[in-house]
Amino acid sequence: MQKTKTFFQCQTCGCISPKWLGKCPDCGAWNSFTEEKKESTTRHSSLVSHLARSEPQPLSSIKSGHEQRISTGIKELDRVLGGGVVGGSVILVGGDPGIGKSTLLLQALSGIAGKCGKVMYVSGEESPEQIKIRAERLSVNSKEIILLSETSLETIIHTASKLIPKTMVVDSIQTVYTDELVSAPGSVSQVRESAAKLMLFAKRSAIPIFLIGHVTKEGAIAGPRILEHIVDTVLYFEGDRGHSYRILRTVKNRFGSTNEIGIFEMSDSGLLEVENPSELFLLERPLNVPGSTVVASIEGTRPLMVEIQSLVSQTNFGMPRRTTIGVDFNRVNLLVAVLEKKVGLHLGGMDIFLNVVGGLRLIEPAVDLGIIVTIASSLKDIPVDPKIFVFGEVGLSGEIRAVTQAETRIREAAKIGFRQALMPIGNAEKIKNTFGLEITGVKNVEDCLKAVFS
Ligand code: TYD
Ligand code: MG
Repeated sequence: MQKTKTFFQCQTCGCISPKWLGKCPDCGAWNSFTEEKKESTTRHSSLVSHLARSEPQPLSSIKSGHEQRISTGIKELDRVLGGGVVGGSVILVGGDPGIGKSTLLLQALSGIAGKCGKVMYVSGEESPEQIKIRAERLSVNSKEIILLSETSLETIIHTASKLIPKTMVVDSIQTVYTDELVSAPGSVSQVRESAAKLMLFAKRSAIPIFLIGHVTKEGAIAGPRILEHIVDTVLYFEGDRGHSYRILRTVKNRFGSTNEIGIFEMSDSGLLEVENPSELFLLERPLNVPGSTVVASIEGTRPLMVEIQSLVSQTNFGMPRRTTIGVDFNRVNLLVAVLEKKVGLHLGGMDIFLNVVGGLRLIEPAVDLGIIVTIASSLKDIPVDPKIFVFGEVGLSGEIRAVTQAETRIREAAKIGFRQALMPIGNAEKIKNTFGLEITGVKNVEDCLKAVFS
């Protein structure tokens, strides 16, 4: 009699061990191993063999054939995807529960259905009645949207190959299971195998597929990291539950740029696109208050004016506290050191709290100058003129370095009524069009603080 063999697999990274382990030796996750059964038949991931079947050929002889892109009717989503949905691509959308993934994709499907015809929404989480209730809120009522409440992968693919929808949504990949594996839905092997099969189906049929993925407590898409490697595009839908805005961010995109963001607002009737995010982020800005500075940042191709707030106060305990939200903690520590050593500000005995308003995360170095100015403003208790905005990278010797796309930043600032720009001298010298703003080029941090607080 054949013995069924089992093994243990880490549900976070997919690492395999013959014995149960408390801590994964690969990714360090605790208590992440679960038992899985070994398959009797040897199956190779058919995706690889399918893609590798063609003959070798010179690059020059391949026709580029512009990929056909389908517009979803939601401009923010189209831009994040790189200009629309590419036929046969698989797009993974991750995000916290209740953030609006199902809403976004139902709206996108409705846009596609309006233009291209039949689309399919497969739900393993909600009944058709529940989806109907959401659709009514969104005033989506198209005959072209076909609902399927199903979790068996084989049935889903069978139905899709009969129906041939223009686009398909699978909500969510964690609920789908294939009959070929015995492990439970949501386990690493099920998620990976189901995603690989859907990918293969998408490539063969040229039907684009959106997969909704749950995220873990740490914020990564649940299931193996491998899922992110299989699919073409990975989008994260983020946002503060307390705020109504939501940000759609690209993490990976085989058909476009990876630093685009789309901004939405959750309303009573679904997600609305935010056309002018800078205005939204500056809406409730307190004027003439110390510790508030506006930076001109660039996310992907779009400029964003964002307020950085800081609070610098005397430390009550021995160790000063440094807390940052929306900017890199180590970067802030570095800039604090520059302020101490190069400008002589006494920050050693001070608690510093820093916050980027609106739940944004700023990663580009051009926000350095904003951090410097906002900390200095709070420490000195002098407000920054609300008509001034800043941008520039700060080096370790206190110099201010030029950044990219200076004119784009200035144009955005001029549009919403700023009057003066403090920027790296390297950028200021090259500016051709000032859009009516007063441009101040600064060479180092000391110059900059003099210009702001004089
Ligand atoms: P949903 O798309 O179900 O989230 P997910 O699929 O990511 O879990 O969105 C759920 C939340 O969105 C829910 O808390 C209610 C809210 N919502 C609105 O505020 N307005 C709307 O029009 C809709 C459809 C949902
Ligand atoms: Mg949902």
